[in-house]
Amino acid sequence: MTPAANSIHGMWSTRLAFILAASGSAVGLGNIWRFPYTAGEYGGGAFVLIYILCVALIGVPIMMAEIMLGRRGRQSPINTMRTLAEQEGLSGRWQLLGWMGILSGFLILSFYSVIAGWTLAYVFRAAAGAFSGIDASGAEGLFGALVGDAERLLAWHTIFMVLVVGVVARGVASGLEKAVRYLMPALFVLLLIMVLYAASTGNFNAAFAYLFAPDFAELKGHAGEAILSAMGQAFFSLSLGMGAIMIYGSYLKRDASIAQNTLIVAGMDTLVALLAGLAIFPIVFANGLAPDSGPGLIFQTLPIAFGDMPAGALFGTLFFVLLVFAAWTSAISLLEPLTAWLVENLGFSRVRAAVLGGVTVWLLGIVCLLSLNLWSDVTLFGKGFLDLFDFLTANVLLPLGGILIAVFAGWLLARASSVDELDLGEGLAYRFWRLLIRYLAPLAVTLVFLNALGVLKFFGLG
Ligand code: PFF
Repeated sequence: MTPAANSIHGMWSTRLAFILAASGSAVGLGNIWRFPYTAGEYGGGAFVLIYILCVALIGVPIMMAEIMLGRRGRQSPINTMRTLAEQEGLSGRWQLLGWMGILSGFLILSFYSVIAGWTLAYVFRAAAGAFSGIDASGAEGLFGALVGDAERLLAWHTIFMVLVVGVVARGVASGLEKAVRYLMPALFVLLLIMVLYAASTGNFNAAFAYLFAPDFAELKGHAGEAILSAMGQAFFSLSLGMGAIMIYGSYLKRDASIAQNTLIVAGMDTLVALLAGLAIFPIVFANGLAPDSGPGLIFQTLPIAFGDMPAGALFGTLFFVLLVFAAWTSAISLLEPLTAWLVENLGFSRVRAAVLGGVTVWLLGIVCLLSLNLWSDVTLFGKGFLDLFDFLTANVLLPLGGILIAVFAGWLLARASSVDELDLGEGLAYRFWRLLIRYLAPLAVTLVFLNALGVLKFFGLG
């Protein structure tokens, strides 16, 4: 069977549209909310270095593989994997990879939407001037009041999910392309302004050294966990391992270069995360805050900066609005694989498919938001639901999906197919990719898993 020329769900109109949509998926709360606080939890520089290595050596080859498989299959990840496996004479059970991705997408979106809700709430606080002259304890109090209020969290979570379903129901290619074209550059510029502000008033040198001078002593005692988290952060931030990038690849035209697009998207994503770190840590240090204060970090630091800078209410509002948009374009990509599958296999209209997926995620999100307040005592494996879903997806399910994608693309897909699809010829670049996808990526992820489980130590290796 020859691969379909186009996807039934539509195609990106231009090459730039794919880059924008894929970076819209990649750049989101993962860069601006999750990266700084996770780096802070593991002491900065050493974590950042491991993170960058994971992006370059594991993330980039897997992203190329995901786009490649998506473009060859031209369907939802479940059907893409089934079709490609059949073409290679393999078991149809490879579609389970797609199902695992749907599960990951559900779990991620359920807590992602709650955090996006915090961001929405902060838009209005910024606009109302709630940050003006605020100090560290004031910012902490403001954040605590929001997170402790289940009803308010529910309202914001609901509003965000309605926004996500609204776009997915319309079809990704139409609305998304236009939104991302202006908003992503705007977010970038605003982040630069924040970095400049932080450089002029905060403790920039300390922050720079904290992020870029690795001190491996910081990892003592929990190196396995830190490496797992850095790898998980790379998968999460690049949107890899669950089919989001795969389905965006399925809307990509034949003449676009997968390698080039991947490098641009991964490069931008990493740059945004590092800029977010450079905007936040100078404020952390200048105000004597703890870098390891957890998921509330940006919500407890940025208001201090906005409260202090000229026209802070305006910049603050703009910043949180743009962060909402960044979260929105990521959330859309989390719901798309399931929506496409419901359309393909059950004949649902897009609207019905998106609403069904959205309502399921919304229900699961309620469990997450309650774990922050009324159910804060309920734990599973020592974690509340939100933390558990976050850990399980970023650090377990996405990297596991990544191993399977690497094995499929590197070992099972015919060499001629990947040569043809990547269009790099058979020169050095192709061979380097093949080396990374066949050996380095799957082995590295497996070792990180084993290390975190203490298995390597058991054999005297860790
Ligand atoms: N990459 C997004 C972020 O950094 O915010 C989150 C995300 C989107 C993760 C899509 C996974 C995914 F499939």
